[in-house]
Amino acid sequence: MTILITGGAGFIGSNFIHRWLSKNEEKIVNVDLLTYAGNINSLKDISNDKRYIFEKVDIAEKSKIYKLINKYEPRAVINFAAESHVDRSIHSPEAFIRTNINGVFSLLEASKDYFFRLNSNKKNSFKIIQVSTDEVYGSLKEEEDKFTEQNQYLPNSPYAASKAAGDHLARSYCKTYGLPVCITNCSNNYGPYQFPEKLIPLTIHNALENKQIPIYGDGRQIRDWLFVDDHCDAICEVLAKGTVGETYNIGGDNEITNIDIVNIICAKLDELSPMKDNKYDSLISYVKDRPGHDRRYAINSTKIKNELNWKPHIKFIEGIDITIQWYLDNQAWVKNITSGDYKEWIDLNYK
Ligand code: NAD
Ligand code: DAU
Repeated sequence: MTILITGGAGFIGSNFIHRWLSKNEEKIVNVDLLTYAGNINSLKDISNDKRYIFEKVDIAEKSKIYKLINKYEPRAVINFAAESHVDRSIHSPEAFIRTNINGVFSLLEASKDYFFRLNSNKKNSFKIIQVSTDEVYGSLKEEEDKFTEQNQYLPNSPYAASKAAGDHLARSYCKTYGLPVCITNCSNNYGPYQFPEKLIPLTIHNALENKQIPIYGDGRQIRDWLFVDDHCDAICEVLAKGTVGETYNIGGDNEITNIDIVNIICAKLDELSPMKDNKYDSLISYVKDRPGHDRRYAINSTKIKNELNWKPHIKFIEGIDITIQWYLDNQAWVKNITSGDYKEWIDLNYK
């Protein structure tokens, strides 16, 4: 049997493929357009594995997606592909509409066409997972309860709005056509292979390059950090046991402010790779805030814990050490990215 995932050359997708192949014999097809965020080097070690197939295709190209789904006849489709960076969505939202909305539409249409031609056995085992984000719920005040699956969608950035639209389409295909869809809404992930424009890898990268570490606004914004392997395991549980039509929130029970995250990273780097005459926190620089910046995200994962027996296993203190060590050991992976048009975007965003 085969599963088909999209966006497998990105951060979470590549971690998912590594984890999948380490635990399953089943084939995995990776459909990825290789945008700036897609990195084939993240999959170099498994590129010759007979269970792994790569297809460079845009998920918004409906006819190509029809063909791929019919060619591989997957028992499941997991949609990781997205434009995922909030700052880019503020600067240039169009790609977010294409991939996160039209792309989801095209996957749903192709899956519907395929699903209706399956026999009843195969229909019963088919599932689509729309991998989504806690950002669709908007922003929490300090005293508010964590997001549950019942929270209203109140997206604040073009990224969050485009993901919300994709989720609504996915839900509607389940309700209207009976397409077996589950939606997952996860909090901030961290770990190896994350593109160095996101807070944690950007901080590590800038520190090691002796560049300023930008903190937006007062740095007291809160995110609920989850190690990427724990997210991948949660998706496997939803694939295996999730109830069709349901949404599952996935979180780390780990709320930390941005400035605390950056200070933890600086202190760890002081230990592992000290600067000559200074401490890394001397590079911290408070900059203009992100427009519409969400103050706090926090996920209530009671449902997935109770119903699917999932829980996060990696404590932040372990996960951040693994992550920092991975970036120190994989400078070539980072350099390969930062030697491309990376600098153009970073200069544009942080000037
Ligand atoms: P990423 O930006 O690292 O990777 C996205 C991948 O999608 C890249 O490989 C890119 O090439 C591919 N892609 C983009 N547009 C495409 C298109 N039109 N067709 C085919 N492939 C395309 O993203 P990520 O951080 O790995 O996030 C993966 C998913 O998880 C996204 O849907 C995101 O919304 C969701 N999510 C991310 C986080 C997080 O903290 N990173 C948290 C919760 C949910
Ligand atoms: O919550 C899940 C979401 O987490 C995912 O859906 C998104 O795809 C993912 O990018 C992430 O979004 P955030 O905006 O929370 O992540 P980012 O790493 O961009 O920023 C984390 C926090 O750090 C946020 O409050 C903004 C702040 N920040 C970010 C950068 C890049 C800074 O203060 N300085 C920075 O340089």
